[in-house]
Amino acid sequence: MQNFIFQNPTKLIFGKDQLVHLKTEIPRYGNKVLLVYGGGSIKRSGLYEKVMSLLNEIDAQVFELSGVEPNPRVTTARKGVDICKQEGVEFILAVGGGSVIDCTKLIAAGAKYEGDPWDLVIKKASAKEALPFGTVLTLAATGSEMNSGSVITNWESNEKYGWGSPLTFPKFSILDPVNTFTVPRNQTIYGIVDMMSHVFEHYFHLEEKTEFQDRMCESLLITVMETAPKLLDDLENYDHRATILYSGTMALNGMLNMGYRGDWATHNLEHAVSAVYDIPHGGGLAILFPHWMEHNLHVKPERFKQLAVRVFGVNPEGKTAEEAGLEGIRKLREFWNSIDAPSRLADYDIDDSKLELMADRAMVYGEFGNFTKLNKEDCLAIYRAAL
Ligand code: NZQ
Ligand code: ZN
Repeated sequence: MQNFIFQNPTKLIFGKDQLVHLKTEIPRYGNKVLLVYGGGSIKRSGLYEKVMSLLNEIDAQVFELSGVEPNPRVTTARKGVDICKQEGVEFILAVGGGSVIDCTKLIAAGAKYEGDPWDLVIKKASAKEALPFGTVLTLAATGSEMNSGSVITNWESNEKYGWGSPLTFPKFSILDPVNTFTVPRNQTIYGIVDMMSHVFEHYFHLEEKTEFQDRMCESLLITVMETAPKLLDDLENYDHRATILYSGTMALNGMLNMGYRGDWATHNLEHAVSAVYDIPHGGGLAILFPHWMEHNLHVKPERFKQLAVRVFGVNPEGKTAEEAGLEGIRKLREFWNSIDAPSRLADYDIDDSKLELMADRAMVYGEFGNFTKLNKEDCLAIYRAAL
């Protein structure tokens, strides 16, 4: 295990009827509030009305930015930055899924930056200051509600990159499982795949003696796999929604990966696909992760075997580590198929015509991955296998 310092400053407010905390949390930061949300799900669910009435109760002066896209675009963040600068916004409230929160993070940092917010995404500049912001999460998936990362798309140039800063942790996040009841079945599935993929990204590392971390990762995967089918049969079940919501946050808030660096290559490969085809992140991961695993099984077969035995119940007797590992990958595919996650790029009508462009996008910072480095040929091989 490597040395580490862990600090996560986000206040997590979890459970039924917790929205009321907006009334005590927001006034700590200011009165001029920019409310950021997506394409309308919060209006249909009634959450918008509830948030607005609480903001009215504290006499907040509210500005709004709606229409944040899934795979949020820099053009939308720029609009939010303009509102913040023109109106002197003091606090931003994101109400939505990972896309709304990620867009809010760029607005928060962009509002305190003189140049184009895209500079922060491509690391031409780093954030020196940011507006404070909080979130009301409506979709269990990314963990953005309790981490400092943000993923932004520049649709004009087909680029989608992750960036982040210690300044872009939410001040608080309110997680009421009831607010996720209306998440449609397909988005629920993408969220489940995404949180499982975050754990896989952690799990594939080269550090030794991470027994406790391994067990935490395995426990999260087992819990999500046990709960997912029950939730998908009963989308308004509070307990199952709560389990998945809490799991999604824990999968990417730094708790599981202290003392080592996970791989993160598959996320990079997926972001390149979404940048070119605008597909849901979780859908892309379901397609790519098993192929990344098969491609890299040889790097440390024992690691794959451990996952196969402990999480997928593979009996290792009489099998090499590679054979057991491969069986685990097969069982992962079976599980994702069983919950109707996509399995091929063709499911999104993606053919081989833009593989080069996707590989170039994935390679923008050079070879990548911490478990093993991928070069352009590796990217192309994984994309081709996933067609
Ligand atoms: O836009 P609205 O109308 O709100 O609808 C959204 C959107 O269409 C809908 N939705 C959200 N909550 C709902 C709901 N529909 C009904 N009821 C509700 N309660 O779901 C759709 C997808 O929303 P989105 O926010 O895009 O999904 P998700 O949370 O999966 O976020 C995906 C984005 O996050 C990035 C992804 O790359 C992608 O851009 N990621 C961010 C990470 C981070 N910041 O740490 C890490 C992840 O690995 C990921 O890369
Ligand atoms: Zn993800």
